[in-house]
Amino acid sequence: MNRRPAPSFACVVRVRDLTKTFGPPGRETIAVKNVSLAVAPGERVLLLGPSGSGKTTLLTLMAGLLAPTSGSVELFGRDVSTMHPRALQSLRAAAIGFVFQTFRLIDSLTALENVLLVLHFAGRPRAEARRRALVLLDRLGVAHLAGKRPRALSQGEKQRVAVARALANDPPLLVADEPTANLDSACGLEVARLLGEAAAEGRRSLVVTSHDERLARHADRVLRLADGLLYEEGVPRTRRRLHSTP
Ligand SMILES: Nc1ncnc2c1ncn2[C@@H]1O[C@H](COP(=O)(O)OP(=O)(O)OP(=O)(O)O)[C@@H](O)[C@H]1O
Ligand SMILES: [Mg+2]
Repeated sequence: MNRRPAPSFACVVRVRDLTKTFGPPGRETIAVKNVSLAVAPGERVLLLGPSGSGKTTLLTLMAGLLAPTSGSVELFGRDVSTMHPRALQSLRAAAIGFVFQTFRLIDSLTALENVLLVLHFAGRPRAEARRRALVLLDRLGVAHLAGKRPRALSQGEKQRVAVARALANDPPLLVADEPTANLDSACGLEVARLLGEAAAEGRRSLVVTSHDERLARHADRVLRLADGLLYEEGVPRTRRRLHSTP
């Protein structure tokens, strides 16, 4: 699980001059403005920003879940705008693990079944899938809760199960949108640590959004968003070098 062959692409995600607006022309909201950013294999990036700064929009664009108004998105060296929607969906399912603020576990399934579902869709043999799901739940410290349904779990336990599910397919990229926002402080930091550790151990790239500065300790690079503009360490982009050469 910890050995990953050297990738054939220089960047896991690369966005160039990305802009996303919502609403009718003339009255549009600019959620993301001219953002260029590249995430290297194994790199852990923290995107910090206040509410409404564009974090979810940028993350969703980077994961190929939303089409930009202008600019380009490359995932694993492929321009997503040229991909068939089904091919893009398969790439996402195989290569990106998602963690959300609201966990998004399936209420009618147990913790174990939530993780197994991903492995089932990936076509893993049943016994192997079960072994892997239990190993992951154990690594996240929730193996003893494998048979419980989400409603019987605390918020922190739910998020640990969600992280186990995101890791199920051994994805080279993990994206997490405010994974600690619904957790108390200590629990949130622990989940952030587990995410950072899972990325480092598996040589995965990690992009996490948050408004909590303390998550920086689990990141290799901290970027800030304000009103849709990307800054590095709080210094306006226009006064510093760009994060990547597009
Ligand atoms: N689907 C949408 N339709 C219209 N406006 C949107 C939509 N999604 C986002 N926006 C607007 O784009 C801007 C950025 O929103 P976004 O959700 O990306 O911010 P955020 O940093 O994730 O905020 P939060 O911390 O509250 O989750 C906001 O002004 C928001 O109102
Ligand atoms: Mg958001």
